[in-house]
Amino acid sequence: MTTTQLAALRLIRSVPARGAAVALPVHEGEVAASGLDPALLGRLGFEGKAESVAVLPGADRVVYAVGLGRRDALTTTVLRRAAAAVARSASREDRLVVALLEADAPVAPEAAAAAVVEGLLGASYRYDALRSKPAGRSVAAVDLVAPTAAARRGAERGRIVATATARARDLVNEPGGSLTPDRLARAATAWGKTSGFGVEALGLEQIRRLRLGGVLGVNRGSTHPPRFVRTRWVPRGVRPKAKLALVGKGITFDTGGMSLKTATGMMTMKCDMAGAAAVFGATAAIAELGLPIEVRGYVPATDNMTGGDATRPGDVLRIRNGKTIEVLNTDAEGRLILADALCLASEDRPDAIVDLATLTGACVMALGNKIAGLMGNDDALLGAIEASSATTGEQVWRLPLPPEYRKQYESPVADMKNIGNGNAGALVAGLILEEFVAPGIPWAHLDIAGPAFVEADDADVTRGGTGFGVRLLVDLAERLAAR
Ligand code: BES
Ligand code: MN
Ligand code: ZN
Repeated sequence: MTTTQLAALRLIRSVPARGAAVALPVHEGEVAASGLDPALLGRLGFEGKAESVAVLPGADRVVYAVGLGRRDALTTTVLRRAAAAVARSASREDRLVVALLEADAPVAPEAAAAAVVEGLLGASYRYDALRSKPAGRSVAAVDLVAPTAAARRGAERGRIVATATARARDLVNEPGGSLTPDRLARAATAWGKTSGFGVEALGLEQIRRLRLGGVLGVNRGSTHPPRFVRTRWVPRGVRPKAKLALVGKGITFDTGGMSLKTATGMMTMKCDMAGAAAVFGATAAIAELGLPIEVRGYVPATDNMTGGDATRPGDVLRIRNGKTIEVLNTDAEGRLILADALCLASEDRPDAIVDLATLTGACVMALGNKIAGLMGNDDALLGAIEASSATTGEQVWRLPLPPEYRKQYESPVADMKNIGNGNAGALVAGLILEEFVAPGIPWAHLDIAGPAFVEADDADVTRGGTGFGVRLLVDLAERLAAR
């Protein structure tokens, strides 16, 4: 696996008198008081609006004026997006001094520093592993002015989270023919070694012995054997404040199987293991941060292919907990492998289960590619995820799981079928997953089909795999550890 090189980050105490280009903050309505030439800024049409950047060439250094919007409207999201904007416009700089952290800002200094680093490093990410020469440039080195201990702590946290997100992006961006289930498992194993969490990759025999009928059924059309990856982080020297289970969809490529996708529908389906990548990334960051919470990951990995013995529509699979599913559409494969994973997660009796899956096109239709669908059975857990969403800027929107819709997946031959009538597809998928969560365990489901993979750059997110969920899960883990 190649690891993308992000901008090198150094923490410094103050802006050096001369030398590298420097990014300075300007608030809307305070241009005159900014210390920069107000006439020049005026001629450039710069008013300090959030995410606007003006480039001011000077005699000895270039100054980037970075709009932060109105001072009283400043949030971590504004800071993250502004930092990303200046990283983009300064992409040709070898070194950029960033002085966006203000002592009197109405944002907690640690969170502010983390957000700025996430923006700077996130926007500098580029996937060049498969090009003969890089397609563009990213700012090579960033010197962040972090004057306080809190700012330095936050910056370090941001660096850890941004690096884990970049590695998750690398995995999502790797083509499906290259990232087989075994390679995904090996990437997790290697990551576990460097970041300090345990990884166990179960092979075909163990998957059979565990009776993971959903994984085996989806894998039937494939040349590559499946893997089931279990990860584990246990804090040393402290009693874990909570036990969190993370489940990630690891379809390394989704052709749809015998219910074949269209050529267009298949183009981005290397992204169908983005849930898995988010689970690995979050676990790595949580381990590196040493959070006092136990985190176990459950990642079923296979591709969904059309080989000569592929699952046929009408076949019935028996999931680990004994429930049977009639497969009427082999393209609704995510729920089949996640069913097994949710059973295994439930058996370990965690305090909460969160699954992430590029599960339905219906969710993309409803919420687009910047917002994940959030469903689940526990108001407190869903509320915590919404709070994490607000601080991390990874957007979620709550969708219902109406019991009345369970009728949609009644089967004439098995306990259930794997599709509904076509209406409310994201909700039906969520309801089917819920069938495999043991009663009494708080569970949340994030349908990340939209935000996992995008066509255009936006702030700290770059085109392609986004690593969506890493930041959200790390924040959630901190919240659960503090409860
Ligand atoms: N991996 C897809 C969902 C998807 C769609 C992810 C678009 C990212 C972007 C999933 O396996 C799938 O094919 N779902 C079907 C379910 C349907 C057959 C009930 C869908 O959404 O069409
Ligand atoms: Mn599918
Ligand atoms: Zn899929």
